[in-house]
Amino acid sequence: MSGPRLVDVHPAWLPPEAFRAVGSRRALVCGAGTLVGTVRHELARACARYGGTVAWQPGSGPVDAAPEHRTGGVNLVLALSTAAPLPAPAAEVAGECRRRYGAGALGAEGFALARTGDVTVVLAEEPPGLLHGLFHVIRLGESAFGAARGQERHRPAMRLRMLDHWDNVDVHRVTGQVERGYAGGSIFWRDGSPRGDLARVPDYGRLLAACGVNAVSVNNVNVHATEARLLTDRLGDVAAIADVLRPYGIRVHLSVTFAAPVVLGGLPTADPLDTEVRAWWAATTRQVYDRVPDLGGYVVKADSEGQPGPFTYGRSHADGANLLAEALEPFRGVVHWRAFVYDHRQDWRDRSTDRARAAFDHFAPLDGRFRANVVLQVKHGPMDFQAREPVSPVLAAMPATRLAVEVQVTQEYTGQQRHVCYLAPWWSEVLGFAPWGDHRTVAALAAGDVGEGGGLVGVSNVGDDPFWTGHPLAQANLYAFGRLAWDPGLGPAAVLDEWIGLTFPPGPAGGHDLVRRTLHEMMDGSWRTYERYTAPLGVGFMVRPGHHYGPDVDGYEYSPWGAYHFADRDGVGVDRTRASGTGFTGQYPQPWRDVYESLDRCPDDLLLFFHHVPYGHVLHDGSTVIQHIYDTHFAGAEEVAALRRRWDRLDGLLDPGLHARVRERLDEQVRCAEEWRDQVNAYFFRKSGVPDARGRRIP
Ligand code: GCU
Repeated sequence: MSGPRLVDVHPAWLPPEAFRAVGSRRALVCGAGTLVGTVRHELARACARYGGTVAWQPGSGPVDAAPEHRTGGVNLVLALSTAAPLPAPAAEVAGECRRRYGAGALGAEGFALARTGDVTVVLAEEPPGLLHGLFHVIRLGESAFGAARGQERHRPAMRLRMLDHWDNVDVHRVTGQVERGYAGGSIFWRDGSPRGDLARVPDYGRLLAACGVNAVSVNNVNVHATEARLLTDRLGDVAAIADVLRPYGIRVHLSVTFAAPVVLGGLPTADPLDTEVRAWWAATTRQVYDRVPDLGGYVVKADSEGQPGPFTYGRSHADGANLLAEALEPFRGVVHWRAFVYDHRQDWRDRSTDRARAAFDHFAPLDGRFRANVVLQVKHGPMDFQAREPVSPVLAAMPATRLAVEVQVTQEYTGQQRHVCYLAPWWSEVLGFAPWGDHRTVAALAAGDVGEGGGLVGVSNVGDDPFWTGHPLAQANLYAFGRLAWDPGLGPAAVLDEWIGLTFPPGPAGGHDLVRRTLHEMMDGSWRTYERYTAPLGVGFMVRPGHHYGPDVDGYEYSPWGAYHFADRDGVGVDRTRASGTGFTGQYPQPWRDVYESLDRCPDDLLLFFHHVPYGHVLHDGSTVIQHIYDTHFAGAEEVAALRRRWDRLDGLLDPGLHARVRERLDEQVRCAEEWRDQVNAYFFRKSGVPDARGRRIP
């Protein structure tokens, strides 16, 4: 099933060692179907390596397990509760589960875990649950087989946990094979065609299933000529990927162009209210589902950064999204309609236009007008995946719309996988944000505990690099994305700890505690370190235009992209207040509309996002804005130098190739952090004329 394995590809969080605990035991699998087959296959592979055995009871008819598996010899039972007859320990767990929660309590992907006697039981109602349960036991390792544990019920918070690949089929002249990709080429496409071998795709599916992801879109949201054809004559390429990912419970989605009826169908219009256009989408979608019956649906970036959309025809985004939703509805497909719509041809002199306002202005009035199978996919912040920005007010403004939150796993604005930047603490803050100041969080909105819930989407950071993510430590972001989508309540440090334990199991060189401690020291606070040496106090951008790597304080300042900081000799920041600015604060409900409006109450880390202040403005910690800029930039660069030194301690304890790769990236991070420090400090010193109170050298 998993095709030829590439020896030079790093196993990420599934090295053989991670399977030792299950692979050295006697397992019994009860149930049938493709995903149960995957569970058996995983166990068989582990048992072949570590000496255990695996038996199978398909669910009806005689038990085909060896006698010792029918009696007390079993250590691990993975069972579907619909499979009859269940072996005694599993039946016991099933009974208790029904008593406690009622039938159907585990849902399609959930599972129960218990240890009864000396048997560990994973019980699911449907095959995906069994697969997730297996990977949970793998994460637990030996501790799944220790003392008795009462029954635990595990169910994903978000139904949809999806990675969007920004992979191009053709190498794009500006964005390359993978737009904002920092890990080599695409694992799906190469030079206009599918990769001849999809050898890494099953391994990818396996990694994703093991952290909880259940969907991927296979092409860039910017759909160019070749990619458009994946919907029609190149559909077979998509079907091939879907076939390979299916055994891991990963559903495939497709990014489509809104202009498809014109560019593929030869129609004169793509007007969403045109009858022929509707018929074209319906017929085309029928053909898609004939070929890929479990396709998740479509992803659409419309009227955004040059992509076509309903505005061309004077129609709304509800009209546009509903058109595709209507075509997908008979197949239970979903359209992910992105809310990233703004004017990218702005005049920097015009202070009344505010890019941050755009998504709300376009979409909030449409609440309640989307069909049930539309998911509005909203970037977590109102700008564009910066290292710091407030949570998008759209998330609190559309109670009658299914909302998905989109985060960026690929590190476009957070160091491009050359810098260590563990993003889970950032995502946790976003997911834990309470837009109304009460128990209702962003995670609850995405999960459907409040409203319908569209899930969590991340822009993938994976490529054909041997370490998957370019920077080996960026694997932790991919892992954490899946884990937080499954359970947003997990602590980022705990998730990192899991990832370290799986990825760097104790090896012959020893030093495991040092590895664990060092990685925590390097990664737990790395996002805040990154924030310290880049754009200050939430103002954002200041990156080099185009590729977005490295500092250029005024890079976007006089550009049409709407990403400004408005620094002058007196002060810096964007006035987004209702009183004197763009009025963006008014897009938030209470308490935030007043908190952000108020210069006194606005959190320091977002001060310059919401207010234009003089350099002498005093922050809550007593420092002035200008001194804060100097202090954080010196501190950030020093912290990076410390990271670099810490990594040296692990020399000889890790795989030499991995150690060398990280060292090389850290060298670059040290250089780049110093560049950021010097450029930002020099810029503000020259603008303000205020010297550093601590007399440090500013170039
Ligand atoms: C950013 C990014 C683009 C991307 C866009 C999007 O602007 O730089 O490369 O296409 O986001 O999310 O659609």
